[in-house]
Amino acid sequence: MAHLIDGNAIAAQVRADVQAEVAAWTAAGHRPPYLAVVLVGDDPASASYVRGKTRDAAEVGILSDTLTYDARFSETELLDLIADLNADDGVDGILVQLPLPDHIDEQKVIYAIDPAKDVDGFHPASIGKLVLGQPGFQPATPAGIMEMLRRSGISPRGQHAVVVGRSNIVGKPMANLLLQKGVDATVTVCHSRTPDLPSMTRQADILVAAIGRAHFITADMVKPGAVVIDVGINRVEDATRPRGYRLVGDVDFEAVREKAGWITPVPGGVGPMTRAMLLRNTMLAARNRLERRAGSR
Ligand code: GUN
Repeated sequence: MAHLIDGNAIAAQVRADVQAEVAAWTAAGHRPPYLAVVLVGDDPASASYVRGKTRDAAEVGILSDTLTYDARFSETELLDLIADLNADDGVDGILVQLPLPDHIDEQKVIYAIDPAKDVDGFHPASIGKLVLGQPGFQPATPAGIMEMLRRSGISPRGQHAVVVGRSNIVGKPMANLLLQKGVDATVTVCHSRTPDLPSMTRQADILVAAIGRAHFITADMVKPGAVVIDVGINRVEDATRPRGYRLVGDVDFEAVREKAGWITPVPGGVGPMTRAMLLRNTMLAARNRLERRAGSR
């Protein structure tokens, strides 16, 4: 039976660290870090993620507002809003929740965010630094997974990591973080068009599932003793639940836990880590802002 990697417990440690940092920061006379969250449209999952993010922020002493607009909000209006937030010295971090409604070009919006306030780590400047192994904002989900591995005492060095999924926000940055010098995994990236996926995943010492399909990774696709990280958050109908659905990962948890060495649950695995890393990035943004100001004087 696999060891459970408790994302709630590890995220609580990260939050406690950020809380101490924020307390020291404000005790030194600085205003608290401030995060502007932008939510456009009425996707219930996005609204729920955003509530989680701002609740966590409040818990550690980071101030935030959620700027909410309905699906008719235009691309121009959104770009104007971002320009205002970029120019506002009271704003340390800007997070535009994805996905955006179809009439808004996500790439344009991501490019518009000042890289110094890009706490999501989605701007090309942030991605470039990540690929080059330079310090900067790292996307919260893959950064959270690295932190989980570290705090669980799991070293990727010399391990074969297989990432299933090639999204810009999880799969691609995840593969790059595992590849970094000092992390030293050997990395394979698979996706929906990979032939004979099970033969690839079975080679994984560390398997990261970021596909977005419920129970996609079955026990026969997992090497005995592997570390299995489940990034999926899928809603499946469940009439026994008050909301009519429950959340499941991309991994067939009950079967895979019998075979894996380590496994993250859903919920309570990667999700809370993603939120915790956003807080860390927001604290970093506040520090960087002050350094830039000192540098320009
Ligand atoms: N949608 C799904 N995950 C994320 C995330 O980490 N950040 C933002 N902004 N949107 C998302």
